Amino acid sequence: MSDRGGIFAGEDPIAVARRWLGEAEATEPNDPNAIALATVDAQGLPNVRMVLLKEIEADGFIFYTNYGSAKGQEIEASGKAAFVMHWKSLRRQVRVRGLTCRESGSQADEYFASRSLQSRLGAWASRQSEPLSSRARLVAEVAKVTAAQGVTPRRPPFWGGIRLRPLEMELWADGAFRLHDRFRWTRRTVEEPWEVQRLYP
Ligand SMILES: Cc1cc2nc3c(=O)[nH]c(=O)nc-3n(C[C@H](O)[C@H](O)[C@H](O)COP(=O)(O)O)c2cc1C
Repeated sequence: MSDRGGIFAGEDPIAVARRWLGEAEATEPNDPNAIALATVDAQGLPNVRMVLLKEIEADGFIFYTNYGSAKGQEIEASGKAAFVMHWKSLRRQVRVRGLTCRESGSQADEYFASRSLQSRLGAWASRQSEPLSSRARLVAEVAKVTAAQGVTPRRPPFWGGIRLRPLEMELWADGAFRLHDRFRWTRRTVEEPWEVQRLYP
């Protein structure tokens, strides 16, 4: 038994994280859904960058990217990723580690269709993470895909969602005199129930 309650109440850490994000939407000046997404490359060297979390569902977290990008390739190779969200206004942190799979069906199509036309054409034009000789080259690529795709571009096959299903989550809240509250939820497989422990700060 841990003395868990208040903002940490609930058996499902994904639901608690969703609740916290809802609170951050009211308090953060911008991008409350920004996450620092960590992967490892083929040499085991860590890599991290910001992406936007677009959905929190019962079984996990979804963000969208170019599958050919560095992160896309690293996720494809390892099947694993981690991320952290930090809300400066709330002084809270959510850490997530888990297993990844592509979300490249109708859900990705729908999300792609909801984006602005410029963003959709930009997704077609960008060979994300590859060297680019000049900005003019990128502008020319956008013009080329605009001519080819028109005003209703479909989702590029190389762009879509990644679903991260957590095996471990830690929720952290700032406490007086650095006596912060930390709770870590763990499970060995995504089918198993969560176990939760309080951690020393
Ligand atoms: C606030 C913020 C949000 C971002 N959101 C995304 C995103 O949702 N998807 C994405 O592919 N890149 C996003 N980026 C760009 C990534 O940080 C990164 O530059 C890009 O995806 C290439 O990363 P990679 O070479 O490691 O694959 C975002 C950057 C910032 C600063």
